[in-house]
Amino acid sequence: MKFTILTAFPDSFTSYFSSSIIKQAQNKNLVNIELINFRREKGHKIDDYAYGGKTGMVLKIEPIVECLKTNNLLNHSIILLSPSGKPLTQQMARDLAKQEHIVMLCGHYEGIDARIQKYVTHEVSIGDYLLTSGELAAMVILDCVTRLIPGVINQQSLETESFDEYLLDYPVYTRPPSFEGQDVPEIYLSGNHGEIEKFRKQEQERITKERRPDLWKKYLKYKETNTKTE
Ligand SMILES: C[S@@+](CC[C@H](N)C(=O)[O-])C[C@H]1O[C@@H](n2cnc3c(N)ncnc32)[C@H](O)[C@@H]1O
Repeated sequence: MKFTILTAFPDSFTSYFSSSIIKQAQNKNLVNIELINFRREKGHKIDDYAYGGKTGMVLKIEPIVECLKTNNLLNHSIILLSPSGKPLTQQMARDLAKQEHIVMLCGHYEGIDARIQKYVTHEVSIGDYLLTSGELAAMVILDCVTRLIPGVINQQSLETESFDEYLLDYPVYTRPPSFEGQDVPEIYLSGNHGEIEKFRKQEQERITKERRPDLWKKYLKYKETNTKTE
């Protein structure tokens, strides 16, 4: 799968993309990451004042569209990173993981000239908070999509993760069995795998119900209809 990221700050990606699972995915040729700087050279003007007046600059449309055209990217899925976009979910990540090539546009300052909408296929937000620019959002999407690509991580670890069937994950423990008065739940030391599975599911349900009533509702509906909504 290929990711192309259009950004004015390509350096901000280097350390993340050259470590751990994302690095391994590239080494195994499962993922190809291309970073394109739409500020072609130092001094190239990529921002301007907002029509109507507003504190803060707006990214100009011409350098970005020119970049999409000269790199033949217009016929791919193009994601605009934006706080006004559709909120990113695990289901969205699963759908994106089926694509062959995803292009992401990183905004900065007050965002990109709104006429960019005509060129994008998706507008995605990574949550209800404001980042200074789209680079972190692009990394988040690339990360959660990449780990779903077959071969990137052990398929079994994907089977019972948070958000699978709308449930949060159960708490995990490793050695030592006791630490400063806190013990690992006894069931984990019993060797009874059937009971451990049952306990884990109960924990998933308890935690989701307590912390995320929105997911809990979706889970109950999913259990009833066996159909995933989003
Ligand atoms: C400072 S923000 C622009 C804020 C915009 N004026 C507003 O109030 O909605 C600059 C850029 O950061 C990125 N960004 C900020 N928050 C984001 C979020 N929650 N999800 C995705 N991208 C985000 C977008 O690319 C955006 O164009």
